Amino acid sequence: MKILYVGDIMGRPGVDVVAKVLPDLIQEYAVDFVIAQGENVTEGRGMSIEDMQELQSYGVDFFTGGNWSLFREGVLTDEHPVIRPANYPDGTPGVGYKRVTYATGSVLVVTLLGKIVGKDAGKPIKNPLQTIDEILETADKSDAIVVNFHGDYSSEKRVIGYYLDGRVSAVIGDHWHVPTADAMVLPKGTAHITDVGMCGTLHSSLGVKTDTIITRWRDGLVNKNELETEGPMQFNAVLVNTVDGLASDISHIQTIFE
Ligand SMILES: [Fe+2]
Repeated sequence: MKILYVGDIMGRPGVDVVAKVLPDLIQEYAVDFVIAQGENVTEGRGMSIEDMQELQSYGVDFFTGGNWSLFREGVLTDEHPVIRPANYPDGTPGVGYKRVTYATGSVLVVTLLGKIVGKDAGKPIKNPLQTIDEILETADKSDAIVVNFHGDYSSEKRVIGYYLDGRVSAVIGDHWHVPTADAMVLPKGTAHITDVGMCGTLHSSLGVKTDTIITRWRDGLVNKNELETEGPMQFNAVLVNTVDGLASDISHIQTIFE
């Protein structure tokens, strides 16, 4: 089974990048199932139902979540293939994992939020390791299990891979929007990458204009992040091959274009 995981789709530039790259990629690699990080799709904050449907039309089957998932809760309902972090407190809208069946199999997709995620570092979340243990104990069996780990600490993003090695098909880190060069199959057969990277503008800070950030940090100006929309674009994803629930290989795919 070939599963493609597309990194954080950042705003309108990210959606346009996916439109341009994804349909051909699905054909070229005969991808069975496409998962994408959806927490930054609509102006960098959450995902609207309209944008979700547009991305589905390009071939995205399922969307993981992160610290912006709750900004637009409308998409987090049963009928949509969208999850938010599983280790948010009980009573949070939406669910943190879903089991999906498709043409050639079934896949369980989970998002976990790291213990330290930027401005959300002080918010109450459940322990990610205990949360995934509970999910794996109770969820129905699937042909593949993909765990998305949305976090900041590289150590945390590495350790979760080894914690789940041999128990799930892939552990894919994101939230940084910067890809790491460590895609590998761990010793017991789980594919892992610390961070898959993003889809959107290349010359930016995670998709945001650098000028406003520089004046904020250098001069103490109070200003808002503005999405960068100009210049070269980048697409980042990982392709995971699964056999009997574990991974035979993982490769990072990056496309940069004007
Ligand atoms: Fe994030």
